[in-house]
Amino acid sequence: MNNFNFHVTTDIRFGKDRLEELPEALAQFGKKVLLVYGGGSIKKNGLYDRVTTLLSEQGFDMWELAGVEPNPRVQTVKRGADLCKEHGIDVVLPIGGGSTIDCGKAVAAFALSGMDDPWELVLGRRGYTGPALPIVTILTLAATGSEMNVGAVISNPETKQKLGFGGPSMLPSVSFLDPTNTFSVNHYQTAAGSADILSHLMENYFSRVTGVDVQNRITEGLMRATIANMRIALKTPADYDARANLMWASTLALNGLTGVGKGGAWSCHPMEHELSAFYDITHGVGLAILTPCWMAHVLNEETVFQFATYAREVWGITETVPELAAKMGIQKLYDFFKECQIPMTLPEVGIKDERDFEAMAQQAIDHSSIATAAFVPLQKADVLAIYQACMTESQFV
Ligand code: NZQ
Ligand code: ZN
Repeated sequence: MNNFNFHVTTDIRFGKDRLEELPEALAQFGKKVLLVYGGGSIKKNGLYDRVTTLLSEQGFDMWELAGVEPNPRVQTVKRGADLCKEHGIDVVLPIGGGSTIDCGKAVAAFALSGMDDPWELVLGRRGYTGPALPIVTILTLAATGSEMNVGAVISNPETKQKLGFGGPSMLPSVSFLDPTNTFSVNHYQTAAGSADILSHLMENYFSRVTGVDVQNRITEGLMRATIANMRIALKTPADYDARANLMWASTLALNGLTGVGKGGAWSCHPMEHELSAFYDITHGVGLAILTPCWMAHVLNEETVFQFATYAREVWGITETVPELAAKMGIQKLYDFFKECQIPMTLPEVGIKDERDFEAMAQQAIDHSSIATAAFVPLQKADVLAIYQACMTESQFV
């Protein structure tokens, strides 16, 4: 196990009927609030009315950054930061899924960064050491873990880039996790968000660092819990415990708990971010498509033990021949995503031909360290082969 720091100070307020704590959570930073939200889901499910009524009764002044896109745009970050500067905002309050929260985090940082161009901030990647406005979030979709981590992922359609960046000041101070706020998430987004949780767990799980039993056993448990509760939530969207378990899994999958002590680079996320950058697809769906094909591509003599362990611990596979067990584990994941009605080929999400594969594969290499530090290092030809394998349905056993 590698050395690590684990210092994640977000004050999590988990559970239903806790919204009345919001004024106190915000007031520690001031009374001028920037509400950040997406395309209107919070207006449809009544959360917007509940928050704005409560805050105006308590004497808060509110400004709004509305219409944050899934795969949030750098131009929207600029719009939000301009509002912060113009009105002397004290605290940023994103209400939504990962896109809204990421945008809020980027707004909070850019507003105080002293930079002229928000894209400059994003290009700094994980090295942002400057200040940010305080951030309080209300999560409405279990997926990214953005509610309890320092990262944000921002897209620039002009340059066809989608990049993660972040720094300590971008960690939310308080996050409200009320599972009832996710009851209205539709089947597609529930499946996509849960696939994202599973991907975060797998990206952390498959690592070259050994001696990490605690992290690995926690991660297997979180994977099993996510799979079981995903099945329930897809059938019964208002099942409180299923939504609660997905929500808590999303937070724990990417708040450091399962990744500390390991290091290395993720594999599927850098490849997926290029799919989203070029084709604006749903992040979790892109990951669901890529992950089984990636697993099959990197299965070899050195990795077979880890894939066989994953097959046994996550899917209960009892096959004793490691290579066959590993392949059965990959097939189980693929079949599970299909059962959840996730489109499992690139043409199904609008990527009909291979014309951008070269450029996307090159960017995946340029924008990350998958070529050197991934579980199995991936060169451009590997990324291309994985994209190509995702063009048609797959059979792994
Ligand atoms: O925009 P609204 O109207 O709110 O609708 C959203 C959006 O259309 C809808 N939605 C959210 N909550 C809802 C709801 N619909 C009904 N009821 C609710 N309660 O769901 C759609 C998708 O929302 P989005 O925020 O885009 O989804 P998600 O949470 O999956 O976030 C994806 C973004 O996060 C980035 C992704 O790359 C992508 O840009 N990521 C951020 C990470 C981080 N900060 O740590 C890590 C991740 O790996 C990921 O890269
Ligand atoms: Zn993700």
